[in-house]
Amino acid sequence: MMAKLFQGSVGKKISMSLTGLFLCLFLVVHLSGNLLLLKNDGGVAFNQYSEFMSTNPLIRISEIILAAAFLVHIITAILLSLQNQEARPDRYVLDRSYVHTSFASRTMIYTGSLVFIFLVIHLKTFFVPHRLFHSEQTMYQTVKLAFENPFYTGFYVVAMVLLTLHLWHGFQSAFQSLGLRHRRYTPLIEKLGMGFSILIPLGFGLIPLYFFFRQFLK
Ligand code: HEM
Repeated sequence: MMAKLFQGSVGKKISMSLTGLFLCLFLVVHLSGNLLLLKNDGGVAFNQYSEFMSTNPLIRISEIILAAAFLVHIITAILLSLQNQEARPDRYVLDRSYVHTSFASRTMIYTGSLVFIFLVIHLKTFFVPHRLFHSEQTMYQTVKLAFENPFYTGFYVVAMVLLTLHLWHGFQSAFQSLGLRHRRYTPLIEKLGMGFSILIPLGFGLIPLYFFFRQFLK
């Protein structure tokens, strides 16, 4: 029964929504921890937090759940996109529904793919050297060095614009796919989605910019 549900596009949309909302929750937690980087204490609080994250067994378990959520979200997105392409009888005939969809919704697979590329580079910079190779640097030093590079900071800023676009459609669409539509609450969820998709990437984007410009103030 469950296997059948997830073969259909409704099941896939539900799985996209649930994993997407879980990833949104992760973004809030991740940003809250990362904001410690802005504390003017030479990285003491952030390094303590980072140490806790890498040693606490409960956090290790949540990381496995997080990786699974990313995988399911990405694989389902690819399957849905292939399924939609096949379902289109003639791709050169103008699809009328296209006229009424937003730029953010039409580009979900592209913004999602680019955020994924960002994630791979991001993990290669921070997660791989510290968790897999036990780097000599503190996590704060790695972050500081990375963001003092204009290209790396520029890359993060562009990636956060793409993340805004992805969340702009994704957040409210998740509630729609779960069938949570209501005359009073849907406009509220849409507004919440807009706020979320601007504020979260803005918070993440401020961190590299802070490190980049601070190096010139000394
Ligand atoms: C300025 C922005 C960001 C900074 C400074 C930052 C920093 C970090 C650091 C230091 C780690 C390693 C944590 C550890 O191993 O202890 C990490 C891991 C990770 N980051 Fe980010 N991050 C940022 C933005 C993002 C964004 C936008 C995403 C998702 C789209 C993301 C997803 C992840 C994931 C999935 C991990 C691995 C899981 C984990 O270790 O918690 N990060 N990040």
